[in-house]
Amino acid sequence: MLNRRFLLVKLRLTLWVKLLGEVEEFFEQYLSQDSIFSNKAALQAQYIPNQIVHREEQQQQVARVLAPVLRLQKPSNLFIYGKTGTGKTLVIKQVLQDILKVATGRALPIKIVYVNCKLKHVADTEYRLLVQILRDFGKSLPTTGLPTEEVYRVFYAALDEQPLQLVLVLDEIDELIGKTGNSALYNLTRCNTALLKTRLTLVGICNNIMFTDGLDPRIKSSLSEEELIFPPYNALQLQSILQQRSSLAFRSNVMTQGVLEKCAAFAAREHGDARRALDLLRVAGELADRAISSQVLIEHLDEAEKKLEKDHHLEAVANQPRQYHAVLYAVCKLLEQRSSIFTGEVYSRYQFICSSASMRPLTQRRVSDILGDLDILGLVHAPILSKGRYGRTRQITLPYGAEVQSKIRSMLDESLALQHAEH
Ligand SMILES: Nc1ncnc2c1ncn2[C@@H]1O[C@H](COP(=O)(O)OP(=O)(O)OP(=O)(O)O)[C@@H](O)[C@H]1O
Ligand SMILES: [Mg+2]
Repeated sequence: MLNRRFLLVKLRLTLWVKLLGEVEEFFEQYLSQDSIFSNKAALQAQYIPNQIVHREEQQQQVARVLAPVLRLQKPSNLFIYGKTGTGKTLVIKQVLQDILKVATGRALPIKIVYVNCKLKHVADTEYRLLVQILRDFGKSLPTTGLPTEEVYRVFYAALDEQPLQLVLVLDEIDELIGKTGNSALYNLTRCNTALLKTRLTLVGICNNIMFTDGLDPRIKSSLSEEELIFPPYNALQLQSILQQRSSLAFRSNVMTQGVLEKCAAFAAREHGDARRALDLLRVAGELADRAISSQVLIEHLDEAEKKLEKDHHLEAVANQPRQYHAVLYAVCKLLEQRSSIFTGEVYSRYQFICSSASMRPLTQRRVSDILGDLDILGLVHAPILSKGRYGRTRQITLPYGAEVQSKIRSMLDESLALQHAEH
């Protein structure tokens, strides 16, 4: 018995030493080859390239709207809309950077405050947003539970200390409304009536087209004095963006024929998202680097696409409310045995899941709408079919492979915490 244990320990040790040898060898090999990246930061989200290609027109439009600030006149408020990854944040940051350069050269009293409302603890409440803005003025707000009017009195006094042209950028502004309702934005759009010296200009940025529908009409008209839409990039435009960034990020001759083209085609297939294109290229580069390859090959790109696709679906599921989880779970369960299903079947299974998860079931009509939303998110494929006099239904399939399906199922298991096994 003792002998056997000794042999087992010895075997484990030998394997361990062998593995260590292999790891060491890997490190040696890794170091013996130069990284394929020359400046990986050029592929990261916060990198601001010197030249923004295919956005010359939008840059000029933003510049024209905001230019009066340099004459110390208040520009119109500006609302920018465009799908994710269409260069909105990049363009606004670049134009404001240029405004500041000119203003600093001439000692003009111009101040720019940029707030990303999506960041945690930044714009979760109206109070926090005001704190965030004042931080740029080196000021703070009293923390005691002051009434809103008193908080604003302190806020106005801080902004009005010296006459300023203040440009406040609220990026991902839909998040602000989601978290604080209309109140914060309403008060900000009315700021200039309370300020004596300083003038405030608002720039709102958002990628959710439904955003303005839910807005108080007074806020909507004030925020959208000027409106600008950023269209999605097409595959050729994405290709030149990738070309520009890859020449900064990678050593020369690292990119093999067709990689950038395919990368652009992948990203254009979704909706012309430059962020996704750059992420794909970065991950493909990392995979090539990890494989100690001296070049980025098409196979690295294909692998990167699979990896990002998986992350993308899982993130989309995680961001949905629990009712959506219950509907998606019903779909996943039914599709374990069948290749396609219909709305009615989903509804029966959904009701059963609701009872098991102690949730109040929604109506069948609402569940059909949720299936439509899940379809838009790419989490199910659910086209509407007409069944003649039997009305309309959705035929539902899942647009991703078995591995992603199983990951999603365990994520939903956890979120729904079903009380009895769901078979
Ligand atoms: N025309 C361009 N030239 C070079 N890089 C670009 C261009 N447009 C976008 N990018 C890059 O793509 C990424 C996404 O751009 P950006 O952050 O501006 O998108 P966005 O429209 O603000 O998206 P979201 O709505 O998700 O915030 C960034 O890394 C940015 O540098
Ligand atoms: Mg942005």
